[in-house]
Amino acid sequence: MSDAHSGAIESSLQEQRVFPPPPEFARTALVKSTEEYRQLYKRSIDDPGAFWGEMAGGLHWFKKWDTVLDWKPPYAKWFVGGKLNVSYNCLDLQIERGRGDKAAILWEGEPESGMPGSGGSVHRISFRQLKDQVCRLANGLKELGVKKGDRVTIYMPMVAEAAVAMLACARIGAAHSVIFGGFSSQAIADRVEDAQSDIIITADGGFRRGSIVPLKANVDEALKKTDRVKKIIVLERIGSAPGKDFKIDWVEGRDVWWHELVRNQSTDCPAEPMDAEDTLFVLYTSGSTGKPKGIQHTTGGYLLGVNITTRYVFDLKEDDVYWCTADIGWITGHSYVLYGPLSNGATTLMYEGAPNFPDFSRFWAMIERHRVSVFYTAPTAIRAFMRAGREFVDRHDLRSLRLLGTVGEPINPEAWMWYREVIGGGRCPIVDTWWQTETGMILITPLPGATPTKPGTATLPFFGVDAAIVDRTGKEMGPNQGGLLVIRKPWPAMLRGIFNDPDRYVKQYWTDVPGVYFTGDGARRDADGYFWIMGRVDDVINVSGHRLGTMEIESALVAHEAVAEAAVVGIPHEMKGQGIACFVTLEHGRKPTEALKKELITWVGKQIGSLAKPDQIRFTEALPKTRSGKIMRRLLKELATHGEVRGDTTTLEDFNVIAKLKEQDEG
Ligand code: PRX
Repeated sequence: MSDAHSGAIESSLQEQRVFPPPPEFARTALVKSTEEYRQLYKRSIDDPGAFWGEMAGGLHWFKKWDTVLDWKPPYAKWFVGGKLNVSYNCLDLQIERGRGDKAAILWEGEPESGMPGSGGSVHRISFRQLKDQVCRLANGLKELGVKKGDRVTIYMPMVAEAAVAMLACARIGAAHSVIFGGFSSQAIADRVEDAQSDIIITADGGFRRGSIVPLKANVDEALKKTDRVKKIIVLERIGSAPGKDFKIDWVEGRDVWWHELVRNQSTDCPAEPMDAEDTLFVLYTSGSTGKPKGIQHTTGGYLLGVNITTRYVFDLKEDDVYWCTADIGWITGHSYVLYGPLSNGATTLMYEGAPNFPDFSRFWAMIERHRVSVFYTAPTAIRAFMRAGREFVDRHDLRSLRLLGTVGEPINPEAWMWYREVIGGGRCPIVDTWWQTETGMILITPLPGATPTKPGTATLPFFGVDAAIVDRTGKEMGPNQGGLLVIRKPWPAMLRGIFNDPDRYVKQYWTDVPGVYFTGDGARRDADGYFWIMGRVDDVINVSGHRLGTMEIESALVAHEAVAEAAVVGIPHEMKGQGIACFVTLEHGRKPTEALKKELITWVGKQIGSLAKPDQIRFTEALPKTRSGKIMRRLLKELATHGEVRGDTTTLEDFNVIAKLKEQDEG
């Protein structure tokens, strides 16, 4: 039987495996049946203004909007004329609603503070305490000259202060640009330059899998490449950890200790009334060109989008302890560690370190310790836990869990079933949520009280989301026909543009398929209308749920003195979803050695960050190109994946190139 044939049978069997919403969800969730979902969905599509206007009533507005939606494709403005503040909604409003003493953030550090298995130090920060901390830092930022409309770069470990920093920016109307702590100094320099950011908030370091990540040193290194930055605020994280004596370099006049900056600041800092369309943050993400793009999100629509999806998808109740394991440096951290849960008055758990430190039971120990009830993580983590074995899970009492979520990449049905049975004890519904940095909020997802789930599909669109599968001309595909995933109507949390590059917004998202937002993903819809995401169809690869541009890695490779040309493709990877394969031609006189392979892998890690380290480096005499000189990535992908080339190769300039690559492969 051919692979394709057995794959088709396998997937149709999976589609028959349907899990109805558990009865208690069908009783108590916000949406209680498929019928109710369909009615609400129809209303949200037929009259988005009325639907979202009603939803927005749950937020606090300094001034109500005049118009819910102003849509001049491809430009949307939401809640035009409205004024609000995101930090006010996450803090002051919650205190007004009686949650002042409730835990806003539960934080656990990575190093174990006592006996093995005892966990790290834990901080419980109430909404009132969080507000005080945010106000003091906000006043500190003002003292350093930060104004409404500025960009503040945040490069921090997963400590509660990262959330404080983001909320402090939001409070005074400065846009934050958070850079994931795993990125290198070059990545920091590029992003600081592009965002025109004069100030960086960082820490001396962070703990990760037992090692120290030298964040401040990375920033120092980055600032050798740009003279843009005037001030660095440094949180003492490592230096203040018990038994640690960690030295960092210090530049007088430029570097400021966080604790000194906030020491004498008032805990009162009025929240700046922001226009609904003012930028809340810029977040860089990889695209199909070399340079990451600064995705711009606004205040009103974004907050509403994440607020509503958090409530409906995760079914948050007052006493839930909610844990999204994403790092704050990614969109999932922005939307579903911070803004979504806090704007709903929920307790959000933050963990500083690695899932397998000191061993694979860390997450399960934490769920037991903090009585986590809603848990949201990535398929790649689930696969790693599966491989490690269920004995790490079985040591712990996970009965506090009542709902599980996944995000970031397609989840294979086997991992889905393991998650359901082993982690969820067969009783917790799973929400497989599809969305992107650009979408800001979850767009395709089950609702736990309403949507029957099937392993491997993100199921149905959220309210107001007009998702479809089309071909390149925009024609809608029939059931189970693969095509491109597009969104045909605006949604509140959609990106408003690419920072510093307005033309690219149109070119990148609204040009490939006329008149609609193109996601870059391929997908199909089954006969029930469920969306099955197949993965990216552009030059973006998804490694462990982290998004990387192939051209970004190629640029890093050719920046090495030994490399003449490079072509990078994604390949299937059992654990990471996708791995990185690089085809490299060398400069004249350079020898293709094992040592050079290792050097190039390390080099890419240094240029971008270790998440971008290639899995394979393959030296070749030349790269296959079309007559017009374009590298034929599809062929390389075939070769890296199957070890052979299928399909049409007639436009190849030099057939020998493929033949040689193949010989090497067999050798
Ligand atoms: O390919 C899709 C995949 O992740 C891409 C977006 O990556 P990023 O902007 O980094 O955001 C990740 C977290 C929201 C998408 O284009 N993706 C995300 N969620 C899913 C997914 N693929 C399949 N199923 C999902 N649930």
